[in-house]
Amino acid sequence: MWDQLLIDTQVATAESAADGFGLIEHGAVAINGEHIAWVGPARDLPPDAQRLTGTIHHCGGRTLTPGLVDCHTHLVFGGERSLEFDLRAQGVDYATIAARGGGIRSTVRLTRELTPEALASIALPRARALMADGVTTIEVKSGYGLDTASELKMLEAARLIGEQLDVSIEPTLLALHALPSERSNDRKSYIDEVIQELLPAAAERGLARAVDVFCESIAFTLEECRRVLTAAKALGLGVKVHADQLTNGGGAALAAELGALSADHIEYTSESGVNALAKSGTVGVLLPGAFLMLGETQRPPIAALREAGVAMAIATDLNPGSSPLNSLTLATTLARAQFGLTAAEGFLGVTAHAAAALGHTDRGRIRAGMRADLALWNVAHPRELGYWLGKPNCHAIWRGGRQVAHLTA
Ligand code: NIG
Ligand code: FE
Repeated sequence: MWDQLLIDTQVATAESAADGFGLIEHGAVAINGEHIAWVGPARDLPPDAQRLTGTIHHCGGRTLTPGLVDCHTHLVFGGERSLEFDLRAQGVDYATIAARGGGIRSTVRLTRELTPEALASIALPRARALMADGVTTIEVKSGYGLDTASELKMLEAARLIGEQLDVSIEPTLLALHALPSERSNDRKSYIDEVIQELLPAAAERGLARAVDVFCESIAFTLEECRRVLTAAKALGLGVKVHADQLTNGGGAALAAELGALSADHIEYTSESGVNALAKSGTVGVLLPGAFLMLGETQRPPIAALREAGVAMAIATDLNPGSSPLNSLTLATTLARAQFGLTAAEGFLGVTAHAAAALGHTDRGRIRAGMRADLALWNVAHPRELGYWLGKPNCHAIWRGGRQVAHLTA
């Protein structure tokens, strides 16, 4: 009847339900090939289901969720920036460090030196750590190359990671991240090059599914971002915006105007920006690691987002500068603790809403017909995914119906 059947589990489906989790106690999930074939209460299973199924997984009462989706990472980079964290402890802020040639540009120097193979190989342990924490889909941004060849090299490294590990890699071309130092007097021609060379090359080679920009006072203006994202859309790519992280620059409103998949960070987004996101169906991605590590005090406007009905996702923003955060469940706990999300908002933020932030309708929920991307947890209730700080709780993951890893007892 089925290839696999998971029983003796409570299933948090992430389907809309009054409890916010879509929880089925004493549930069961059947898998055929790469897809979920059946989900429901075990008592509703057909009588001969167990006899006719290839492999039965007895889940020992553990909690089953969709495989988690980390929808915003900068997983590929050379070096690290722990010294900058120390500088910030001494009172030097992120923008000042960047203005002194540190920040993103220092990672660019180290990233440009490496081959795609070397970049992929140093990123593998980071990807494995995310997977050990229940993640089956990882978005990976470029943005530390800042010239056409180096940006394409980063995307190539992302592709290699997807070949080497059993995880879905979603490559995003972060086309405007910082102005490279060799072009500091040359803004316009840099952006022209991004539009004329980089975007078409990435699209043509199938190296990116979406294009992102850093719309911020210390990075790129609204108009520069609009130009690049409009060109990206014309090439059929999705668009995303690092928006309103340090100041209210109208980045979220721009994301909404362009029908972006997501607006990310959004600490300083105004009420009109929030309403625009709601209207366009753009996901708001919360990045609590950057908020924590930069010592920010302005929280994203959670009450307004909730009220307006903006889907909120949570991601690690894993990067060497503002968010060296290598656990999506820890990101969930941080988002809950710092921003006051409910347990259900935390759970949907790394499942259904995170999938939506990548434009995926085939994952992020446990539903017949969707990909069998699943995570099994040593917890009694899915709210614990956004509760523990640093305790590894993931027992096993399945990606496209294949069990990837058995991690803990
Ligand atoms: O999402 N905000 C811009 N980009 C990254 C930080 C990158 C870095 O500092 O290296 C972020 O926080
Ligand atoms: Fe980021």
